[in-house]
Amino acid sequence: MKKAAALAAIDYVESGMIVGVGTGSTANHFIDALAGIKGKLDGTVASSVASADRLKGHGIPVLDLNQTGGLELYVDGADEATKYLHLIKGGGGALTREKIVAAASKKFVCIADDSKLVDRLGKFPLPVEVIPMAQSYVAREIVKLGGEPRLREGFTTDNGNIILDIHALDIINPVELETKLNQITGVVTNGLFAIRPADVLILGGAEGIKVLK
Ligand code: 5RP
Repeated sequence: MKKAAALAAIDYVESGMIVGVGTGSTANHFIDALAGIKGKLDGTVASSVASADRLKGHGIPVLDLNQTGGLELYVDGADEATKYLHLIKGGGGALTREKIVAAASKKFVCIADDSKLVDRLGKFPLPVEVIPMAQSYVAREIVKLGGEPRLREGFTTDNGNIILDIHALDIINPVELETKLNQITGVVTNGLFAIRPADVLILGGAEGIKVLK
């Protein structure tokens, strides 16, 4: 189902594009499918070292976002999504670079299997990337907001930071929570994609593909 969603996203790739590429098992299906049309691309921008390595392994050029300017298209997976195209991302720990590439892209196409569609975000623990020395301070501030932060043990992001996964959240207003979390000093960013949601959500399911816009 992840692969079906990834293959459907190939339709959004046009000749001469530089495509933003996400991270995770669904994004990996997209990368593998991109290999089949790599001659059409001017290049890609990767949201993680892992995705950059996979792209390069297929002989697909990976460019620096500072050299490309804005992108037409970003394709990435999600851990949870709503019908409003608000997302939780960062299960793979790449949330900050994913958010940067999403922000720099005109169109964000999110690809997922339909188990990721939820009525309300928060069952999946919300990842927050934190500067290491701020871990305890940020954790105390998150508790004040009603969450239960847990350190992702043995994990360092591509940016050299830690991840706190926030459990026990029932996210009624994702835009407000995204803003509040980002205002805590020491937070690099959080895995809510609500201020800049997806533009298209492609869901793979038992009965085929469903597209929400
Ligand atoms: C990585 C992500 C991924 O998009 C998210 O975790 C979904 O992963 P998968 O496609 O493996 O289910 O945000 O940081």
